[in-house]
Amino acid sequence: MGLAPLWRLRDGGTEDVSEPAATSGVAPSAAMPRPPRLEASASRASTPPIVAPAAPSASRPATQLRQGREEAAAARPAAPLSDARQAENPDMRARRIATLDWDALEADIHACRQCVLGSGRTQAVPGVGDREARWMLVGEGPGKEEDRKGEPFVGQAGRLLDNMLGSIGLRRGEDVYIANTVKCRPPHNRTPEAAEIGACLPYLERQIELVRPQILIALGRPAAQALLGREIRIAAARGQRFAYRGISLVVTYHPAYLLRNPQDKARAWEDLCFARRLMAAGD
Ligand code: URA
Repeated sequence: MGLAPLWRLRDGGTEDVSEPAATSGVAPSAAMPRPPRLEASASRASTPPIVAPAAPSASRPATQLRQGREEAAAARPAAPLSDARQAENPDMRARRIATLDWDALEADIHACRQCVLGSGRTQAVPGVGDREARWMLVGEGPGKEEDRKGEPFVGQAGRLLDNMLGSIGLRRGEDVYIANTVKCRPPHNRTPEAAEIGACLPYLERQIELVRPQILIALGRPAAQALLGREIRIAAARGQRFAYRGISLVVTYHPAYLLRNPQDKARAWEDLCFARRLMAAGD
C-alpha cells in the first residue's frame, strides 16, 4: 500500500492531562504539522497485542449507556412516531435497527426523536463516505456547520481532519467512512450526554456492521468510550490496539481539540501512522 518508511518521534514527550471534547471556540490553523524531528526506525515493531475492552457489565460508561438508552426512552419528547415505534422498548429498538439496510437506517436516523437532540437539530447527520471503506472514523457529534449541511466534519475541525487523512495518504470518501457518536447536534456544541450517546449507539453499531471496516479510529473521548464501553483518557489509551467486535480500534485526539492544542498534532499524526501500520500488517 505504498507505505513510506516507518517513523517514530525521537522523544516521547509528556502526556497531556486533559482532552476536552467540546468543539466550539477553535483556534485558527487547520494545517497538520510536518512530522517534527523524526528518525527512521530500523525495523518494524511487531504488531502490538490487542487490548481487550473491559467487561461492559463492570464499567461505568457501559452501564451509563444502557441506563442512557432507558432514560432517553423515558424522557423522549412527544413526536409524531408510528404507534409501533412509540411502543418500542430500547432493546426492541436496538434489535430492529440491527436489521436495517443503509436506506432504512438513514431514514430512521432522520426520523429519530429518541432524545432531546432530535428536537434541536436542523437535520440529522448520519455519516458520509465509502460504504465499503476499510477505514472508519468516528467523531463526537455534528457542530453548527454539520447540522446545516448534513455532513460530518465540514467545519474547521473537518478541514483539519481532511489534512490528517491526507498526511497518511487518505481522502474523505475514498476507502474512508466518517460517522459520529451522536447524529444530531448537541446545543452549543456541548459534549453529548450518556443518555444521548446510549440512544444513538444502535445507529453507530449498525453503521459499523454495514461498513465492516478493517480499522476504526475513535476521534476523542466520547467516541472512544462509546465504542469501548468503558472510561478512558485519550492520552493514556493512544498507541494501543483495541478491538471493537473483532475490528482493530485506535484512539486519537479529536480534531477540534487539536485546533485548541496544536502541540498535540504530532501525536495525532503518530496515532494515524500506527493505525496505518496495523492496516499494512492486516490486523
Ligand atoms: N466534530 C465532530 O465530532 N463531528 C463532526 O461532524 C464535526 C465536529
